[in-house]
Amino acid sequence: MPEIRVAVLTVSDTASANSSADKSGPAIREILGQTGSFSCNDHLIVADDVQSIQSAIKDWCERGDVDWIITAGGTGFGMRDQTPEAISPLLEREAPGLVHLMMSASLKQTPMAALSRPVAGTVKRTLVVTLPGSVKAVKENMDALLSAGVVNHAIDLIR
Ligand code: MTE
Repeated sequence: MPEIRVAVLTVSDTASANSSADKSGPAIREILGQTGSFSCNDHLIVADDVQSIQSAIKDWCERGDVDWIITAGGTGFGMRDQTPEAISPLLEREAPGLVHLMMSASLKQTPMAALSRPVAGTVKRTLVVTLPGSVKAVKENMDALLSAGVVNHAIDLIR
């Protein structure tokens, strides 16, 4: 199977003002790099702003050369957290099973996982998955998604 092409979107007011504050984006890229089956040539940081999030997602999905978009941050209950609200209307097919997988794995780690509101689904031939913003949460969710080749198989089916 050819390499899975991933784009990473960090969603954070803080990191959009100062990119060195972005810890989750680099953590995702490091995890992907350890697997050998993913490449990541696109990484953007945007503020917690619906328009900016949607514009990045739409650009990548329309380009047709991104298999998997991973967002990090903005999934919580804070008044500025609006990643799910930005991405949900763009999804053509929802993937509640992936949300369930992430949530069930995360709840084994911490009850605080209940404070994330992840969404997942496809736009054209691109899979979009939202992760919480902390490095710990990123690692735990990526573990779940990559376990037993779940995402690899999903991408295999849509491209
Ligand atoms: N999920 C996992 N696996 N591990 C965690 O530590 N932290 C939670 C939750 N999901 C956490 C997690 C916390 S404390 C919050 S507030 C929410 O993710 C929302 O995070 P976000 O607003 O950065 O997206």
